[in-house]
Amino acid sequence: MDYLTPRPDLYDVPFMAEEFNGMPYRRVGASGLQASAIGLGTWKFGYPHTGDGARVDERTAFAIFDRAIELGVTFWDTANRYNAGSGNSERLIGRWLRANPEQRRNIVLATKLHGGMDGATPNHSGLSRTNIVDALRASLARLQLDYVDVLYFHRFDPGVPIEESLETIEDLVRQGVVRYFAVSNFTRDQLADYLKVQETLSRRCRPVAVQNQFDPVNREPERFVGALELCAAQGVAYVPYSPLAGGLLTTRYLDPAKAGAGDRLHDEGRLAAAATPEKLAVVRRLVKLAEAWEIEVSQLALAYLLTLPGMGPQIPSSSTVAQLESNAAAGRVTLTSEQLAEIEAALSA
Ligand SMILES: NC(=O)c1ccc[n+]([C@@H]2O[C@H](COP(=O)([O-])OP(=O)(O)OC[C@H]3O[C@@H](n4cnc5c(N)ncnc54)[C@H](OP(=O)(O)O)[C@@H]3O)[C@@H](O)[C@H]2O)c1
Repeated sequence: MDYLTPRPDLYDVPFMAEEFNGMPYRRVGASGLQASAIGLGTWKFGYPHTGDGARVDERTAFAIFDRAIELGVTFWDTANRYNAGSGNSERLIGRWLRANPEQRRNIVLATKLHGGMDGATPNHSGLSRTNIVDALRASLARLQLDYVDVLYFHRFDPGVPIEESLETIEDLVRQGVVRYFAVSNFTRDQLADYLKVQETLSRRCRPVAVQNQFDPVNREPERFVGALELCAAQGVAYVPYSPLAGGLLTTRYLDPAKAGAGDRLHDEGRLAAAATPEKLAVVRRLVKLAEAWEIEVSQLALAYLLTLPGMGPQIPSSSTVAQLESNAAAGRVTLTSEQLAEIEAALSA
């Protein structure tokens, strides 16, 4: 072998990457894991013809996954119970990964467990050692993977000692089938309790993220108030779910009478509750700012969320490739302090 001929293909690569395909990354809390600032929620991805409650079928989902890689949108969020308890969101991701095995390392894949799936006894849901191990095994089978990057507890389980759940996570991390642990739908106090117990164990079971509902208009739901502040103080990433309020933070509902079949808030029968005149007035003020800054109001919302202390990567659902492209571009929108002040004023007026 000729060791003296220069091999720029080997050494001319950056020693450390800060972004991927143009998408900035950010640390997930105080952990070493980095995730794309804009990720992809897949709650509504599945097989609509099976009646699984999905609104994005395999063909569209695969087009979205392909484009997501090109745009650096690599933080993918699913759960065992998406959609309607079918597991089809995971199955669909698994089928795409099987067709694109070279992309596995580029994706930070997060899934969740807690709710009942295919088992009927009281042991087949919740955060007992039994259900955590069984549910993860079933998720890995649907995903056709041997590990997940992030495993979330989908909600708190008051019926199981925290030590039992966290020690199970420690074991799974040691076994290499889970890389990072996180929680979802946790109140401030539940998160504080978990962090306290974790300190008696190892960092393997320290939650790196909390996934709770949050969007600029509705903020933290009452039951979760204080969780974001605790995340900021404790180096835990707050990954907001429904960051676009299910689509309210776009221009499509400004005239609710025009919303119809195909618009999610309409299809889910929650248009009246979600698009109240007060909330639409806030969206209108944000739209005005976004127009002046030549961005979309959904991009303004995502870029704003990324500036909040404690906030982690965003996981908006994208139902089309065009939505994905728009959402991905929000990862590169930088808001000045003057713009942030104008957004705050629009939100609180
Ligand atoms: N942990 C939990 O309990 C929990 C609960 C809920 C969600 N989540 C996660 O959070 C993710 C996101 O939440 P979400 O789906 O509830 O709500 P979201 O991201 O706030 O809203 C997504 C909806 O907004 C519309 N949309 C998205 N991007 C758009 C764009 N650029 N332009 C116009 N419209 C756009 C689409 O509506 P159309 O479909 O009508 O086009 C899409 O379905 C989920 O996929 C899931 O991964 C977790």
